[in-house]
Parts: sequence; C-alpha cells; structure tokens
Amino acid sequence: MSGSATQKFRAERALGWRERMARQVKRAVALPPPPVEGALTRMVGLTLEASGCQAAVGDVCDLLNGDGSKVEAEVVGFAGDKLYLMPTGEVHGLAPAARVVPRQRAGSVRVGPGLLGRVIDGNGTPLDGLGPIQGEDRVKLLGRSINPLARHPIDTPLDVGVRSINSLLTVGRGQRIGLFAGSGVGKSVLLGMMARYTSADVIVVGLIGERGREVKEFVERILGPEGRRRSVVVASPADNPPLIRLHGAWLATSIAEYFRERGLSVLLIMDSLTRFAQAQREIGLAIGEAPATKGYPPSVFARLPALVERAGNGAKGKGSITAFYTVLTEGDDQQDPIADSARAILDGHVVLSRRIAEAGQYPAVDVEASVSRVMQEIIPPEHAELARRFRQTLSIYQQNRDLISIGAYQRGSDPRIDQAIDLWPAMQKFLMQPIDKRVGHAEAVNELRQLFAASPADPRHETIRTSRHRPAGRRAYRKGTRRARRARREAPGRDAAEAGRAREIPQ
Ligand SMILES: Nc1ncnc2c1ncn2[C@@H]1O[C@H](COP(=O)(O)OP(=O)(O)OP(=O)(O)O)[C@@H](O)[C@H]1O
Ligand SMILES: [Mg+2]
Repeated sequence: MSGSATQKFRAERALGWRERMARQVKRAVALPPPPVEGALTRMVGLTLEASGCQAAVGDVCDLLNGDGSKVEAEVVGFAGDKLYLMPTGEVHGLAPAARVVPRQRAGSVRVGPGLLGRVIDGNGTPLDGLGPIQGEDRVKLLGRSINPLARHPIDTPLDVGVRSINSLLTVGRGQRIGLFAGSGVGKSVLLGMMARYTSADVIVVGLIGERGREVKEFVERILGPEGRRRSVVVASPADNPPLIRLHGAWLATSIAEYFRERGLSVLLIMDSLTRFAQAQREIGLAIGEAPATKGYPPSVFARLPALVERAGNGAKGKGSITAFYTVLTEGDDQQDPIADSARAILDGHVVLSRRIAEAGQYPAVDVEASVSRVMQEIIPPEHAELARRFRQTLSIYQQNRDLISIGAYQRGSDPRIDQAIDLWPAMQKFLMQPIDKRVGHAEAVNELRQLFAASPADPRHETIRTSRHRPAGRRAYRKGTRRARRARREAPGRDAAEAGRAREIPQ
C-alpha cells in the first residue's frame, strides 16, 4: 500500500470511530438516570413511607422484600425527603426496610378496538379470562385536557332508549349528567337499559367501588350479550385499594377518550362518582391532608371536576363522550358535599326517588326534581312545549295530591286540576318502562304528543277551591264567605254549605 493510501485508510477509520463514539454518547445521554433506590421506613394502614429514593408523584415503585417477593406502590405525596406511597395491589408480606426501587411513570394502558366486549380492572388487566387485550395504541390514565374553546358545542340529542329521559330530560351528545339516588332504587338497572338501548357507538362502563358481586351481575344480567358487544367494562370494586379505584375511573375515561378521538359517539357510565370521591378521601386523609367538608379533604373537590371535565365533546370533527355519573344521596341528604359539588359541575341531573320506586313505578325518575340543562337548546320548540306541559301538569297534580286523595277536592273547581286528574293515569303509564323494552327518541316524543292530543293546551283557569280547613288569606276567606252569601241569595236551591266551602285563592 502506498503512503497516501495508508493515510487515507487511517483517516477514514478515525472518522468512522468518531461517528460511532458520537452515537454512543448520544445514546448514553438519552438514557434515563439510574434509579436511586431507598428503603421502607414506616407503614400505617395502607400508607407507606420510604426514605432515600428519588421519585416523583405518580411514579411507580417496586417494594422488594428480602425473600424476593414484590409489592407495587405509587408515590402519592412527600414531606421533606420522605415519600408517601400507596399500594396498587396486595401488601401482604411487606417487611421493614424493604428496598424501594423507582420504576417508570405510572399509567399507560394498552387500548384498541379489541377492548370491545371485554372486562378489565383498574390497571387494565383483563378479568374475563379471554386473553390479553389486542391493541397497538396506549393511553395515559390522566388523559389530556381539551381547550374549552375548541370543544364542539352540544347541539344534537342522544337517544338513550328510556322514554322519560328521551322526552322530558333530553340528553345531548357530550352532556355530563348526574344520576342522583339512594341505594336500591334502580340505578344499575336504568344504566343497564341505557347501555343496551342507546344509539351511541361505544359504551364504556366504570364500576367503581361498588360490591364485587354487582360486577358479575351487571355484566351478565343487566348488560347482557347485546349490550356487551359494544361495551368496555372497567371494574374496580370496593375491595380494591383506593388508588386502584381512582385508576379505574381514570382508565374508563381514558378509554372513552380513545374512542372519541376516533370520531365515535361514546356513552360513559360511571357507577359511582361518590365512591371515586371516597377513594380520594381515603388517600388524602392517609397522607395527612386536613379534612374540610364532612371529612372530605380539599383534594377531593379538585379531583371531581378534573375527572368530569374530561368527558364532553371533542374538538370539531372528533366524537363525543356523553357521561352519566351516579351520585349516592343516602337518606335524601341534600347537604352531602359530593352531591352538592356534582350538581355544580354537571350539566344536569336525573333524580331517582325512593318514594316512586316504592310505589312500583320503574324507572323511578322524579321528573320534578330532575333537570337537563342543555335540553332547551337541542330540541325543537314543539317538543319543548310538550315537555313543559307535562311538567306543569305533573306539578299541579302533585301539589293537590293530598286534597285529591282524601276527596277534599271537588271536580269542576279548577279546570287545570281536573285535567291533571284526567291525565294522571296516562302520565304514570308514560313514565313506566319495562326493563326489556326500548323506547327511542322519536317514539318517546310521539307518545308525549299523543298524551296531550285530546286535552286543551291551557284550560281556562278561574279559581282554585279548597277545603275550609286549608289556610288561606283573611281577604280571600272573606271573599269566599261573601260569595257563599251571594250564592245562597241567587240560587236558593243550591247546596249553600257546599258553596260556602269555596274560597278564592288569588293566583
Ligand atoms: N325498570 C325496572 N323494572 C322493574 N324493577 C326494577 C326496575 N329497575 C329496578 N328494579 C328493581 O329494583 C331493584 C334494585 O335495582 P338496582 O340494583 O338497579 O338498584 P341500585 O340503585 O343499583 O342498587 P344499589 O344501590 O344496591 O347498587 C332491582 O333488583 C329490581 O327488582
Ligand atoms: Mg347498583
């Protein structure tokens, strides 16, 4: 080899070597810093304290025992150099000074159309024994927030297949509604009906903090094979650690977001929001947060809107997430802080009443107490007028219910009450719906139209007559007795006592 050829060969070799070195340096720089592990110093209840390790809130750590067993936990807070962790699984066998080895940031779960028909837990692990989830995408548990100005407005009704809701509490695509009820009044059955009969493309069900038995019952009996085909069920029952219950609610929302991104209309059903709040309360109190309202620490009231705001419409051209969140209102406690907070952050509420359920009227929707805040904007004026008439007639009947039932109301005294009495049986029938019957939006509105077809729109109103014992103003009472005297003078044959009973109440 000549001298110049040798030089050229050496120069090329040096260049190649430099390039290889540069690549290795780049790769080394890109590597995550090695984990700095620590040790478990304390465990009280489900709260774990570790010192010496470097991890951020939301990171997952492996807690390694001397015998090689492993427990997974997530960082939920810190104080000084102490980290607070919460387990995401069973903590049995955890020993003092266990090694705490930080891993990657928590919360990315495999998703795809293969999720449909599946039941998974709060970690995304299948519970139905049908093998691993097929899907090439991954979603984060906490999702991404949408610029509120970029959201598509709620302008189209969503058919939920339930007559009373479709006609009187019309739900819009992208609306978030609370289902307020005590225990055992028919929440699960109503949610199951909506899941089976809705016109939404995909249904995501989050069963959070409820009894484990209910999961199987909901999936097999209430949802049934037809509902299950286009549903994903995320189940985090009450025996799961609080962190997994939170994850369950987040994961259900993330899956709904995944399908919304693909332009689909999603119905998200979360049973229940109260249990989600209680899981956050457990975590907050365990790591030393001060309780604020009825034992709920402030973080609960930050977590609720953060969860609920993720539902709703996507940007223009994307799909929508219409969400139902059940809220437990035990003993009709209107002061319950979770019910209060939910009412403020949701776009409407459907109240199920125990009084109505006890009378055997299912679904036990209390139309008077329920409201859909977007209804007026998404339905035509004729439908709005029919719904208004229904509410008005229902309200007139309920206000005079006691008088009517003890026979103190006399027919003919007030045409509006007469009309309410006439319509009442049909209205009751209208509100009832068997579990196995679907009533679509158009059918529900049509039936509402039929209900009022035979009765005048606004019966002429003159007076409301009540029994003598009903408290009334002094002026009205005197007017009533004058009227009675006049009636006796003008029509001597008429039953004077009956005429005297009539008193006018100014409207
Ligand atoms: N549409 C309906 N038709 C007939 N019966 C119904 C209907 N809805 C509910 N029920 C009755 O009410 C019972 C309780 O319903 P469901 O389990 O849905 O209540 P829940 O509010 O979910 O209760 P929990 O608070 O225990 O979860 C059912 O077992 C059923 O007997
Ligand atoms: Mg239930």
